[in-house]
Amino acid sequence: MTRGNSICGGEVESLTKDIVASLDVGTANTRCVIAEVDQKGDVHVIGMSSRPSVGMRKGLIIDLEANALCIKETISFAERMAGTTVSSVYVGLSPLHAALQGSRGMVAVLGDKHEVSPEDVERAIQAAKMISLPPNREVLDIISKQYIVDGYGGLKDPVRMVGMRLELEALLVVGNLTALSNLRRSVDRAGYGSDGFVLKPLALGELMLSEDERELGVLLCDVGASATELSYFEEGTLRSIGVLPIGGASVTNDLALGLRTSTPTAERLKIENDWFGQTEEKVVDLSAYGHVESKRISSKAFVEIIEPRYEELFKMLRQQAKDLSNHDVIPAGIVLTGGVAKTKGFAGLAKRYIPNPVRVSLDTYGAVDDPGYNAAVGIITYVLSRSAYVAGQRSQRRGSSSGLVARVKGFLKDFWE
Ligand SMILES: Nc1ncnc2c1ncn2[C@@H]1O[C@H](COP(=O)(O)OP(=O)(O)OP(=O)(O)O)[C@@H](O)[C@H]1O
Ligand SMILES: [Mg+2]
Repeated sequence: MTRGNSICGGEVESLTKDIVASLDVGTANTRCVIAEVDQKGDVHVIGMSSRPSVGMRKGLIIDLEANALCIKETISFAERMAGTTVSSVYVGLSPLHAALQGSRGMVAVLGDKHEVSPEDVERAIQAAKMISLPPNREVLDIISKQYIVDGYGGLKDPVRMVGMRLELEALLVVGNLTALSNLRRSVDRAGYGSDGFVLKPLALGELMLSEDERELGVLLCDVGASATELSYFEEGTLRSIGVLPIGGASVTNDLALGLRTSTPTAERLKIENDWFGQTEEKVVDLSAYGHVESKRISSKAFVEIIEPRYEELFKMLRQQAKDLSNHDVIPAGIVLTGGVAKTKGFAGLAKRYIPNPVRVSLDTYGAVDDPGYNAAVGIITYVLSRSAYVAGQRSQRRGSSSGLVARVKGFLKDFWE
């Protein structure tokens, strides 16, 4: 990963210039990122756009037409910025609509001189995907935990190992068909194709966490508007996911009710002030934030309304951290991100309730200067790094004139066609 304009330098070689786009439909915001892969394989973000989401409630599409229009506007704006059009996008999927399920695939090694070939690996992947699922579930992706060659386990990449039998121990990302169909239909109504779904924690985890953190054990918490999405990584890969039904919208609602004001006023009041950092009592007038008449509120009264909701969030988080990681104290700690993590003093507040090392990450990547785009950026880098792997680039590094995007489009598609 490089900083500056390039966000995925050196991952793939000898590519023709190509375009990949991603879409993150959140409850509060819909975001699109368009990236160009240059001939050296460096990835540059050339277009991005964020719009307040329409037709969404608690992570679900409740008005397809309105949602499709919002998606269309978001992608069109990014296209105008990029100076190019896209016909399809990779779509981010919330853990709310997905589950991880353990699976194993076992095949005989057919490579020359019993050397494991990329084709053997591909057959092991296909075998691990063959599980019976309830009718409303769909396999979207596969996360390899380890390869085992003739009982010799712990392998990350078994290609060229010698043996008779290749096993893959994996986690399958299984999506909820109803949610997927609605998302797919909305993107379709917006006039675009869906290249595939990427579980957002996978995208965010690879982008925002260090290899060390992912190896030791780390919990990533994306605190959004309607929900907090959790993902636990250990030994290098995603291990478990979870969702808490609390986010920034709960805080705003509490404020709107407590102060008897509108939601937009409560939202502005919340975002535009450093409430937890106040050392002295401060008084603000709600009319400066859109309230119809003058109404004064002290910072103390404000904190009394919002803190219980943050407390509830962190207490739930503490329990989930334990359940998802099986540790009382997570080795590399907890990383907080998402819109709510912009709350000033958020990490300090979290530390009061959670007995774990905690850090807030509002890092940005490449030319993108808003952490709100991280899921959309991460989808692109995830897809590119995975496609390089799936295409055998890691072991072969032959270079290809067929273009990266052609390969990328093959990847993930076969999971849900
Ligand atoms: N500076 C800030 N201080 C406090 N809260 C903030 C700030 N900026 C944004 N938020 C809150 O972050 C939330 C939006 O976060 P984000 O953009 O990550 O949500 P989303 O991804 O659209 O939603 P979801 O993940 O629930 O679908 C809103 O509830 C908003 O009030
Ligand atoms: Mg989100």
